[in-house]
Amino acid sequence: MIHDKKEWKVGVIGATGMVGQRFVTLLDGHPWFRPVCLLASARSAGKKYPEAVGDKWAMSVPIPAYAKDLTVLDAEADAEKLVGKVDFVFCAVNMKKDQIKALEERYAKLEIPVVSNNSAHRGTKDVPMVIPEINASHLEVIAAQRRRLGTKRGFIAVKSNCSLQSYVPLLHPLLPFGVKSAAVCTYQAISGAGKTFDTMPEILDNIIPYIGGEEEKSEREPLKIWGSVQGDEIVDATAPVITAQCLRVPVSDGHTAAAFVTFERKPSKEEILRAWAEFSGEPQKLALPSAPKQFIHYLEEDNRPQPKLDRMTENGMAVCAGRLREDALFDWKFVGCSHNTLRGAAGGAVLLAELLAAKGYFD
Ligand SMILES: NC(=O)c1ccc[n+]([C@@H]2O[C@H](COP(=O)([O-])OP(=O)(O)OC[C@H]3O[C@@H](n4cnc5c(N)ncnc54)[C@H](OP(=O)(O)O)[C@@H]3O)[C@@H](O)[C@H]2O)c1
Repeated sequence: MIHDKKEWKVGVIGATGMVGQRFVTLLDGHPWFRPVCLLASARSAGKKYPEAVGDKWAMSVPIPAYAKDLTVLDAEADAEKLVGKVDFVFCAVNMKKDQIKALEERYAKLEIPVVSNNSAHRGTKDVPMVIPEINASHLEVIAAQRRRLGTKRGFIAVKSNCSLQSYVPLLHPLLPFGVKSAAVCTYQAISGAGKTFDTMPEILDNIIPYIGGEEEKSEREPLKIWGSVQGDEIVDATAPVITAQCLRVPVSDGHTAAAFVTFERKPSKEEILRAWAEFSGEPQKLALPSAPKQFIHYLEEDNRPQPKLDRMTENGMAVCAGRLREDALFDWKFVGCSHNTLRGAAGGAVLLAELLAAKGYFD
């Protein structure tokens, strides 16, 4: 790999949050990326990282040694201090949408590329929203974004919503069969709301049938991912039509999706299984450090995939599928499962950053 010897210095904005903690953990010993700055709100600024996180630390491993010594910076007041210190930043913050847009553009205009988990810029036409195995080609729109922002190296790239990760990767290899429509019901883990069982006791013995904004994102974002770069923007695909219901369930990590699909040309079971087994993308071709070797794992057992058993498949970066069978109303139905804060959030963003690094966008 050409970039093996290069190292990029990284900042994490929102480092004290649920997704931020995943970044802090995933970047420990990363072969390419060295975390040098951790940033959060003014409430955390000036404190050493362990003090700033306090009892919010929700990872199963202890705070990494490198992070113990870092003093948290204020993402807004200290932005200029990062110039020349980092090659790019990850961003996962809980702020109002217009504040996030402004914050991310500010970093980009400081010539610090932003790899974002936030939804604020997902609809911006010249901001690529990338699942690296599926639409790596959308990175080419960054040139147009840089022209708009007046930057040489600064830009924003985002990853999609975590709920998509359990069905879009399974629908994608089936597009050659003409996917006409899909109905999906997602069963989403509480870490997707930045919660644990301690901070969300109302979820025990319960299901909450509403996650604000999630159904719109689950229906709309796939069309941008399946869109194409035309001129200076990404033009959304117009099909397949997706309808979604999103439920919050008492699971710590791992989103599950039940999907029902109709095709122009109904494939056989063998054709679907072959399409899933053979599917791979740029991360596998480039052997990116966080890429799963096999993106889609099909599990034959009737009671799989299960979030508790299957979310950590290939370090939480693969997508598991199961229960593929014919349907009376649609053509086929199946169940998908992926880790929402690994593949669906921080891990997906680290993989996107590896793709950007390998393609020279941080040089
Ligand atoms: N959880 C998931 O699975 C998931 C998946 C995909 C995307 N996301 C997105 O990722 C983002 C973060 O989610 P989360 O679950 O990690 O949230 P969270 O646990 O509530 O953490 C929020 C982070 O934002 C920081 N923050 C709040 N106000 C700020 C300000 N004014 N300036 C700078 N930093 C500020 C907080 O710092 P303090 O500690 O100092 O307050 C904290 O580090 C959200 O946009 C969410 O939609 C989450």
